[in-house]
Formats: sequence, structure tokens, C-alpha cells
Amino acid sequence: MSDPSSADASTVSSSSAAPATALGPANHPLAGASVLLVGATGGLGQALHAELKHRGAIVTVVGRTEAKVQALDPERGVSLDLRTAEACQQAVAAGVVPTGSIDVVINAVGVVAFGAVADLSIDAMEELFLTNTFIPIMLAKAALPHINAGGAIVNISGVIAEQNMPGMGAYGASKAAVRSFDEALAREARRSKIRVLDARPGHTETGLADRPIEGAAPKFPDGLSPASVAATICDALESGSKDLPSTAF
Ligand SMILES: NC(=O)c1ccc[n+]([C@@H]2O[C@H](COP(=O)([O-])OP(=O)(O)OC[C@H]3O[C@@H](n4cnc5c(N)ncnc54)[C@H](OP(=O)(O)O)[C@@H]3O)[C@@H](O)[C@H]2O)c1
Repeated sequence: MSDPSSADASTVSSSSAAPATALGPANHPLAGASVLLVGATGGLGQALHAELKHRGAIVTVVGRTEAKVQALDPERGVSLDLRTAEACQQAVAAGVVPTGSIDVVINAVGVVAFGAVADLSIDAMEELFLTNTFIPIMLAKAALPHINAGGAIVNISGVIAEQNMPGMGAYGASKAAVRSFDEALAREARRSKIRVLDARPGHTETGLADRPIEGAAPKFPDGLSPASVAATICDALESGSKDLPSTAF
């Protein structure tokens, strides 16, 4: 596993690296693209990893848990707790290593908590916003200078960013904030020819709801398959889509 702590995103050398490939109108734009996938060890992250590799992308894998990262990619995997700006910069530095720049950043990091506003602890609410909202913001800020024209950032806010629901108020608010951030970032990044895709899939069978940081999940109807969500996101990257509303899944 590479050690990103010694690398600085602004100074990483790419002397032995392959040339970067911007996403373009070719038949397989993800083939050869340099993709930084954070949250790669999660349910959606693993499905995205498989789909990206299938399409020929050069994927840098970032997860929080060392053993899971090692299992996924012992060569190009990096384990980081991303809840600081420094850690997000280290993730970007790792993503720059293979080709000298990044074409796509996909953020599949997240935690969930369940409970009425009156019951959910402030600690859980803080954790939701730190992980679900601030990590995407810090990661985008760190990554923007290293993303090639024609590239993209993908954040997975979820259908709850379109309509919040009782018992998930803080989680939903942390995701609606990401969607709002993505709207502004998309307009800012347009002049650098970088797309920002806000992906809003519905409930997906990754097990996320079974490992909340607080509370217990309500009964959800059967959800989407992680593989189909990953394929839809990759299709959108390759087709040039500019948004991924819940209806796209
Ligand atoms: N599943 C759904 O129904 C659904 C629907 C819409 C949107 N989403 C969103 O999609 C994203 C992925 O969800 P998922 O279902 O794949 O969840 P998941 O299986 O629990 O995966 C979450 C990922 O986030 C990582 N992570 C959590 N905290 C971290 C931290 N502080 N630093 C670095 N990594 C951290 C986890 O690392 P470890 O594996 O090491 O713990 C894991 O890779 C989340 O943002 C979620 O809110 C999910």
C-alpha cells in the first residue's frame, strides 16, 4: 500500500506515470481515466470499484479500514479517516500518483443515523454533518486543482436530498446540504470544464441502514442493487450527463 502521508497533492511527481486521459466523447471515456474513489470499501464503493475496473479505469482506492482496503486493492489502496482537511489532501495526493492528475473523483463515503430530532444526540448530528457534508466539501476543495478539463466530481447525496422524512431529519439535512453545495460547485467548475454530478439514488441494498451510528432503521422496501447504481453512475460519467436525480436510478 502506498503511504500518502509523505506526499503533497501539489508536489506529487508523475515522472514515471502514464499520461492522463480526460473524459471525452470517445466510445469508452472511462478507459484509462484516472479515478479517485473514496469510500471504496463500502457497499456502493465496492460496486463502483468493480464497474470502474470493468470499464478500464485506473482506480485509486481510499477507505477508512486498513484491512478492507488491503482486501480491495493491496497495491493502490490507501486507508484514511477523511474527517480532516489534511486527510482529504492526502487522498487527493494518492489519486494523483498513477497519472499525475485526476479525471474523476467519486465520493461514496457516508454514515447514517435514525431517530426523531427530539431524540437524536447532538454528537450523532455532528458526526452526520462532518462525514456526509464536510468530507465532500473538503475533498472537492482539495481535488479541484488536480482534475483535468473534461473530468468530473461525483457526490452521492441520495433521494433524501430531494425529500426528507421523519426519523431521518439530520441525515437528510446533511445530504440536502451536499446537493446544494453540488449545485453551486457545478456552476463554479463549469468554467474549468469539470462536471459535478449529484447522484440521488433511492434506498440501496448495501447494509448501510443496518449499521447506523445511532438509532435503528425503519423497515425499508426492497432497495436498488449496488451494481445497478454503480452502472448508472458510470453511464452518466461516460455520456456527459450533468445531474443524476432519483428518477435516473
Ligand atoms: N445505501 C443506500 O441506501 C444509499 C442511498 C443513497 C445514498 N447513499 C449514500 O451513498 C454513500 C455510500 O453508501 P453505502 O451504502 O455504500 O454505505 P457503506 O456501505 O456503509 O459505505 C460507507 C463508506 O464510507 C466509509 N467511511 C465512513 N466514514 C468514513 C470516514 N470518516 N473516513 C473515510 N471513510 C469513511 C466507509 O469506510 P469503512 O468501510 O472502512 O467503514 C465505507 O467505505 C453514502 O454517502 C450514503 O449516504 C446510500
